[in-house]
Amino acid sequence: MIENKNLVLIGMPGCGKSTIGHLLSEKLDLPFCDIDQYIENKEKKKIKDIFKDGEAIFRKIEKQAVKEVSLKTPMVISTGGGVIKDEDNINQLKKNGIIIFINRPLELIISDINTEDRPLLKEQSGALEKLYEQRYHLYKMYCDYEIKNISSLEGVVEGILELVGK
Ligand code: S3P
Repeated sequence: MIENKNLVLIGMPGCGKSTIGHLLSEKLDLPFCDIDQYIENKEKKKIKDIFKDGEAIFRKIEKQAVKEVSLKTPMVISTGGGVIKDEDNINQLKKNGIIIFINRPLELIISDINTEDRPLLKEQSGALEKLYEQRYHLYKMYCDYEIKNISSLEGVVEGILELVGK
């Protein structure tokens, strides 16, 4: 099963990937890596400042970060919501990892997301809905497992542990 494999969380911004990833890593006693955090540490810049140079630059940096992080195992990895925009990222993450889609309904995301630090959501209303429409099928298609995040975070963590046989 998951011995020596990474557990990789994908899903929309605000679906709970980072918090769940953190809790999961504690439960499994594994290191945790949030790719956005990894990028900020490496570039010594906030994601929103990297985006000022354009999304394409960010995606290039993100792709390199995915390569670097996915080589280390076993760990729990939380990805940025747009990681699924490039199939190479998913292929890379799948080499050493199990992909889990954190599926949080759009209305719940909208009700509690902070868009301030999320450059793709900040500028226009309806941006989140648009991203959801464009991406939902990709999360579904690329994941090995899917879990709904509609109640407690602890419940989601337990659900993931069950899914992967831990
Ligand atoms: C992005 C989501 C962000 C971050 C960047 C781009 C996206 O991560 O990687 O702002 O394209 O959806 P979160 O999903 O953690 O917000």
